[in-house]
Amino acid sequence: MTARGITECAVEDLTEAEARKELARLAKDVARHDRLYYQQDAPAVSDADYDALRARNASIEARFPELARPDSPSQRVGAAPAEHFAKVKHALPMLSLGNAFEDSDVTDFADRVRRFLGLSGDAALDMTAEPKIDGLSISLRYEEGELVLGATRGDGSQGENVTANVRTIGDIPNRVTAKDFPDIFEVRGEIYMTHDDFAALNARQQAAGQQPYVNPRNTAAGSLRQLDTKITAERPLRFFAYAWGEASALPADTQMGVIEAFKRWKFPVNPLMRLCGSVDEMLEVYRTIEGTRATFGYDIDGVVYKVNRLDYQERLGFVSRAPRWAVAHKFPAEKATTRLHDIEIQVGRTGALTPVAKLEPVTVGGVVVQNASLHNEDEIARKDVRIGDTVIIQRAGDVIPQILGPVLEKRPKGAKPFIFPTICPACGSHAVREVNPKTGKEDVVRRCTGGLICPAQAVERLKHFVSRNAYDIEGLGAKQVEAFYKEDRIKSPADIFTLEIRDERAEDKLKDKEGFGDLSVRNLFAAIDTRRTISLDRFIYALGIRHVGETTARVLAKSYGTAEALQEALDTAADKESDAYAELVNIDGIGEVVGEAIVEFFAEAHNQEAVAALLEQVTPDAYEVEETDSPVAGKTVVFTGTLEQVTRSEAKALAERLGAKVAGSVSKKTDYVVAGPGAGSKRKKAEELGVMILSEAEWLELVGEG
Ligand code: IVH
Repeated sequence: MTARGITECAVEDLTEAEARKELARLAKDVARHDRLYYQQDAPAVSDADYDALRARNASIEARFPELARPDSPSQRVGAAPAEHFAKVKHALPMLSLGNAFEDSDVTDFADRVRRFLGLSGDAALDMTAEPKIDGLSISLRYEEGELVLGATRGDGSQGENVTANVRTIGDIPNRVTAKDFPDIFEVRGEIYMTHDDFAALNARQQAAGQQPYVNPRNTAAGSLRQLDTKITAERPLRFFAYAWGEASALPADTQMGVIEAFKRWKFPVNPLMRLCGSVDEMLEVYRTIEGTRATFGYDIDGVVYKVNRLDYQERLGFVSRAPRWAVAHKFPAEKATTRLHDIEIQVGRTGALTPVAKLEPVTVGGVVVQNASLHNEDEIARKDVRIGDTVIIQRAGDVIPQILGPVLEKRPKGAKPFIFPTICPACGSHAVREVNPKTGKEDVVRRCTGGLICPAQAVERLKHFVSRNAYDIEGLGAKQVEAFYKEDRIKSPADIFTLEIRDERAEDKLKDKEGFGDLSVRNLFAAIDTRRTISLDRFIYALGIRHVGETTARVLAKSYGTAEALQEALDTAADKESDAYAELVNIDGIGEVVGEAIVEFFAEAHNQEAVAALLEQVTPDAYEVEETDSPVAGKTVVFTGTLEQVTRSEAKALAERLGAKVAGSVSKKTDYVVAGPGAGSKRKKAEELGVMILSEAEWLELVGEG
């Protein structure tokens, strides 16, 4: 029987020799798909096909148990190699960047910076411009000149310790001997692979009969995250330094100055970085780089602009996870055409029905795309996209590929407009478009009304709960949650934490389940245990309350401090006349819509039970107020009237940096009202409540900026 013959042969018809061969092939194939999925973010088969491979492996093993291989897929849960690196907390978070697409976005960025700093249109404001390298970011910590830690970005606060691997990269000094190199210094930058090195690596790969890699970026990422340092050492990785984290001293007071110091210290820096005195100059650099990028020999996906003066950078600070003083000007998205095979309806955690285009796989910008978002039913109708159409798709950076529209000349005869379901495909409940009571407008999103009875919503909430920026439990990803939900092992978040005790008593033990083994189950329970304590903001975010993303979760964590305080406040806040409700919507960054969603969530008995059950299993850490010895740390401040020395946004940002909370209106809980000229009702309210009122000068004096 030929190899192909065996792969198609029914399990019960295989001879022992054929079964042995098949198991070897399946082990290799599944490992390859795991690699593509986990390391290269480039799955080559559908989930169903992947599951079929594992199922076939399991049934052959069931028939010939003695043939089971040590490297069999049944011995591990699609393990990403990255799961074995230790996590490290970054001394300072690794930020991401806001995006600009049009020239006008760049002008807006410069205007925003000027407004924030209170600079007039003609005051000098230098910016650097440099290529945005398409690799993976890394933080390199040096203590007394010695490289002591290399950490990936991870979620920005916590990355993976890849020190041993980083030490094998020739571009990265293991020791810096320069006299002016500070005692503690974290150099940050991008690890990447050149086109030539990528091509040579692929040639070697193919000569060895192996599958070629997909693109330099994913290969660089996969190469760095190898458990076996020898493999990383063989991969041609390079590095550009462009930023820094914790530093006991800085070698200059401008961005450009620090980069020049990097160069002196023997770190590779990008030769195309320029200093610009105006937006026109920035755009000129952008166009030059865009026009010549094909000759660089490595991938870039835009140009990054940064405010040059570091004192300005300091004042500007950051919002959420991106600095106010930098922006990435992206190159236009790449396009391709392909066939639309089907439109699938997915039900999200808030019940939203989202149409997903199932496409003939096509490579766009170096990545294989087979799914694209169609957003909502109006969008499908507006673009008139029909199943069977040839469609134009576009992919920009890391965003989900978009469908621009159909190629009408290629439309098959008889293709009919898509009819959007009005029944939830998961639970059969009605799916409706809510009408906004304020505007009277119909929502673009159709939502399942099944709420808590809808299994799709329940699974999506669990997936969100374990997602990267929420609980992030190693070995418990979307796939496992889905399987465990189906098998009734995990129905609500608290069940995750009782999984082990229940498993001890269960008849169908997890370790006997296909795809699991003793070791992976032990690892899973250990990983779950490490998450019994978690930061309060992650805990709140994990609950999956509508409109509560990471930023809002952080705001809530900061305002309430502990899970108990939050729970208590929200129990009372259900009454819209209550002080607790007023306090909630008064938090800067919350407001009515978000406030209502939060209250609604906590008013639902099932949610109350789920949160209470969860809190029996886990203890969220009290929110750590930034350690500052400022007299305003922990105080609540309201700004009103006109500020004359700093802009309102800068005043607010400074207060927050010092650990104060900024509120929008005055209440008993307000500690200070900073009132400038023109202050009216808020000042009056403060007087009535006896809240301390400060002038802008007094405030600046208090915070040490006077
Ligand atoms: S600056 C605080 N400069 O882009 C500023 N980032 O989308 C931090 N990147 O996570 C980033 N080239 O991995 C900066 N010249 C460059 C860059 C660059 C690539 C990456 C970096 C960052 C991501 C944000």
